[in-house]
Amino acid sequence: MKKVAIAGATGAVGRQMLECIRERNLPVEVKLLASARSKGKVIDDLVVEELTPASFQDVDYVLGACENDVTKQWMPWAQEAGCVVVDNSSAFRLDDNVPLVVPEINPEDIENHNGIIANPNCSTIIALVGCDALKKEFGLKRMIVTTMQAVSGAGVKGIADLENQVKGEDVPFQAFPYQIAYNLIPQIGDFDEFGISKEEWKMQNEGRKIWHAPELLVNCTCVRVPVMRSHSESITLECET
Ligand SMILES: NC(=O)c1ccc[n+]([C@@H]2O[C@H](COP(=O)([O-])OP(=O)(O)OC[C@H]3O[C@@H](n4cnc5c(N)ncnc54)[C@H](OP(=O)(O)O)[C@@H]3O)[C@@H](O)[C@H]2O)c1
Repeated sequence: MKKVAIAGATGAVGRQMLECIRERNLPVEVKLLASARSKGKVIDDLVVEELTPASFQDVDYVLGACENDVTKQWMPWAQEAGCVVVDNSSAFRLDDNVPLVVPEINPEDIENHNGIIANPNCSTIIALVGCDALKKEFGLKRMIVTTMQAVSGAGVKGIADLENQVKGEDVPFQAFPYQIAYNLIPQIGDFDEFGISKEEWKMQNEGRKIWHAPELLVNCTCVRVPVMRSHSESITLECET
């Protein structure tokens, strides 16, 4: 039986990955990995192990659900062990040697992988899946997108911030620089010198790569909203025909 490790198994994404594996009854053995802080925690009857250089030696596939810096640290260990990694972080998404894949749109790009397959930003996935049929039929020239992104997108700390603030708990903010309860924050990630945030750039750059459409014009505004889960988007498209 193939063995799948979830790196970042205690986080918002890692927990969801385990749930998906369970829901689909996939015939795989699962190994849960996280930081030393989580060693010994039990999730769904599995004991979480600390992620170390030896963690991947008995593993076939890795599902990556860690922040970029952590992912860059363990990726060489997974590669040395010969694993295929499907990674959710943005650490390798724009790397020319790494396919960036949405299964409903460009599954054929998986064929060219060299051990890492990247998974795009959550807002990019839902926008592209929604627009792909229109692109095929009419061609796309320009996309103007506004995202309304739930706190789950900021991981377990984002969810904790909204829960604490709604309960009126007087505890420090963990994920957001401002109160998010009853508020909107029009910034996700740092701004660059043009006032464009990291999240806004992801929509343009990742969309162009997935669709193999470097000429596509994209303008995006990303807003964090006080919703626990599920992002919403407003999209205006200009088509070729
Ligand atoms: N949330 C989303 O909707 C979403 C969507 C698309 C992509 N992503 C990306 O997916 C990744 C995970 O996001 P998330 O929202 O799930 O974050 P999260 O809730 O903060 O979870 C982070 C995970 O990384 C683990 N971790 C931290 N430091 C570690 C270390 N030194 N060694 C091993 N594991 C370590 C944490 O373990 P501990 O619990 O032990 O600290 C936890 O399991 C990020 O790159 C994010 O940008 C997130």
